[in-house]
Amino acid sequence: MAHDVDPLEHERASWKPSSGLAVEVSDPAVNPGLPPHRARITDKDPAAMTRAVRTVYTLFYLSVAASVWAVVAYMIFPLDGTLVAIRNNTLFVGLGIAFALLAIGIGAIHWSKAVMSDKEFIEPRHATRGRDTTREGAVAVFEVANEESGFGRRAMIRNSLIAAVIASVVPGVVLFRGLAPETGNPVELLSHTMWKKGMRLAHDPSGRPIKASEVTLGSAFHVIPEELAELSHGEGYLNEKAKAIVLLMRLPEDELIEAEDKKDWSYDGIVAYSKVCTHVGCPVALYEQLTHHLLCPCHQSQFDVSDGAKVIFGPAARPLPQLPITVDSEGYLVAQSDFTEPVGPSFWERH
Ligand code: FES
Repeated sequence: MAHDVDPLEHERASWKPSSGLAVEVSDPAVNPGLPPHRARITDKDPAAMTRAVRTVYTLFYLSVAASVWAVVAYMIFPLDGTLVAIRNNTLFVGLGIAFALLAIGIGAIHWSKAVMSDKEFIEPRHATRGRDTTREGAVAVFEVANEESGFGRRAMIRNSLIAAVIASVVPGVVLFRGLAPETGNPVELLSHTMWKKGMRLAHDPSGRPIKASEVTLGSAFHVIPEELAELSHGEGYLNEKAKAIVLLMRLPEDELIEAEDKKDWSYDGIVAYSKVCTHVGCPVALYEQLTHHLLCPCHQSQFDVSDGAKVIFGPAARPLPQLPITVDSEGYLVAQSDFTEPVGPSFWERH
């Protein structure tokens, strides 16, 4: 009596693990119909293989040189605040980083196309069972990959790739220097804002001063120091604004819970708080007037405006700093002083 042969059974029976889990398709018993393997020039000609290897490590070392150039360019084209300096710095540092990454990419592709084995293999489906041999199989795969890629054997390629990858990170680290201010003590700069006694609170971005009478119950205003608007987007505008930006809200006075030493920091139920989240500095801009909660959209920290902007939810660790305010003789809202603590996220030297 004739029995049909299960093709999968046949495949399993004919599957012979060679150097791991896969079988070369040159084995006629398991070839699913792929055309015969065509050897590349680097497989047939040792000199071509040597050239390919040389090309790969040359590209990786060129990547190292480009990363070094990016660091050098950052130093010889310093950011002195002029447009030309910013353009040169961006252009030459950018070219260095771009070429460094491009050379790694091209080198890796050439390595895989011309140097690593390109023989076709098939891996028959089989039951996935948690047997002891699974672990050995995984190790065998890595050994085969190591053997075929030459990662362990071809020291020039391996070392040059490691050097290129490490060097490609260096410009990114060095560029952090550009975040620090050109002059002055960073701790001092982070500890103070433009606000000072008598400075009017003004609409952002128009710079129009705000009268206490126009702040109605439940409203919220985005506020900048009046003098900031006079910088009219010139040098330093954004840096100062990033620190001094404020949210102004009016609450029913009987709903305000104020600390003893801050009782005179509000005016007629109007309170002003820094808009810079104390978590990592996003603008806290979503005000829910019924609950008096301020929400930071970045990581959902919530602050209770009626209770000193204390954190009631989320990752922020400190309340939003409050700006002490009052009104001047013309009824305009003015600051009583600068913030009494640094605004924004914590930093090492924060007091
Ligand atoms: S920056 Fe506001 S919650 Fe993270």
